[in-house]
Amino acid sequence: MSRAFDVEAIRSEFPILSREVNGKPLIYFDNAASAQKPNAVLNAMSDQGRTAYANVHRGIHTLANETTEAYEAAREMVRAFINAGSVNEIIFTKGGTEAINLVAYGLTGEIEPGDEIVLSVMEHHSNIVAWHFLRERYGAVLKWIDVDDSGALDMAALEAALSPKTKIVAITHMSNVLGTVTQADEIVRLAHAAGAEVLFDGCQSGVHLEVDVQALDCDYYVLTGHKIYGPTGIGALYGKAKSLARLRPFQGGGEMIEIVERDRVTYNEAPHKFEAGTPPILQAIGFGAALDWLCQFDKSEVLEHEHALYNRAYEAVRGVNGLTVHGTAPGKGPVLSFSMDGAHPHDVAQILDRYGVAVRAGHHCAQPLMEHLGVSATARASFGIYNTLEEVDAFIQALHKARGMLI
Ligand code: ALA
Repeated sequence: MSRAFDVEAIRSEFPILSREVNGKPLIYFDNAASAQKPNAVLNAMSDQGRTAYANVHRGIHTLANETTEAYEAAREMVRAFINAGSVNEIIFTKGGTEAINLVAYGLTGEIEPGDEIVLSVMEHHSNIVAWHFLRERYGAVLKWIDVDDSGALDMAALEAALSPKTKIVAITHMSNVLGTVTQADEIVRLAHAAGAEVLFDGCQSGVHLEVDVQALDCDYYVLTGHKIYGPTGIGALYGKAKSLARLRPFQGGGEMIEIVERDRVTYNEAPHKFEAGTPPILQAIGFGAALDWLCQFDKSEVLEHEHALYNRAYEAVRGVNGLTVHGTAPGKGPVLSFSMDGAHPHDVAQILDRYGVAVRAGHHCAQPLMEHLGVSATARASFGIYNTLEEVDAFIQALHKARGMLI
């Protein structure tokens, strides 16, 4: 049975939320950049470090075995979190960016000049630049899918962009700027019908949506730990066993090999084939603890709470003279990006910070989207499990003050 959703009880588990910023209680609305960590995560890493730490997969002594067990238990947590069929399909990476680069590099043995990679204009740079490498170095062609005025992906354009040359469709499951949740099932259906693989960037969606990679039937799914209340320096790549078997290993080193001789090397099986060197052990254990912590709750109840926060904020800012909200697609995630006429988003964020409100301002590592929106930057409030309606009200008051000062 799930733990009852009680936002005050949840807040009490996040020590940072009791601090002040500029003499005001912290209102942390920068969750899409990085979420805060509960005691369960902080303690899991520190307990492991204090009581049972050694390298993994290498030793036969007790500490090595205990650490390996904890590390592999974290992999099992990730598997269960996205309902992958096997732990061998879960590769620990240092984050979402490395996971995408791992796939892009892994495909280099197969990319022929003219092969196509389909991306959307709302991708984060991590799901763009890795593919630019394939364009620059191997002659791949990037095909871009637009979004409509609400921020919804143009599915007709996606269908039209697919061809026998399409190698992979690499699309966000939830935009970090617009909050748009893409039609993942339909994307997979269309891409597979064209013979292409699908990678979802789940760095934003992982914390909010129920993800079932087997039901989705996607080929790759990318997660990052620090946006799911876990530590930085850890992420995960899900890949179907048959896809991972084809990918070239991304980095060479210890543990990813089978045999190393002077003139020959053979590789280990996935996931080890892609985890060269000593992995981020404590971070993986912290990631597992974060997923374990989040899984206490009914995810739909959490999302309902986050939607209530978003809706309160959206209703308060829509229609306010001089404020434009970017991203209104139905079913979107709890991310409110906005522009204030005549004011730079950095100035808006700076004034909000004076009132203790942390939001992100900038291009959000999504320059093609900024170009599409016709802006150089936006301000963005992004909501998480521990935020409250009272915080939203305080944010709105601070925003009106900023508006009064800036325009
Ligand atoms: N990808 C992170 C963001 O959207 C850093 O802010």
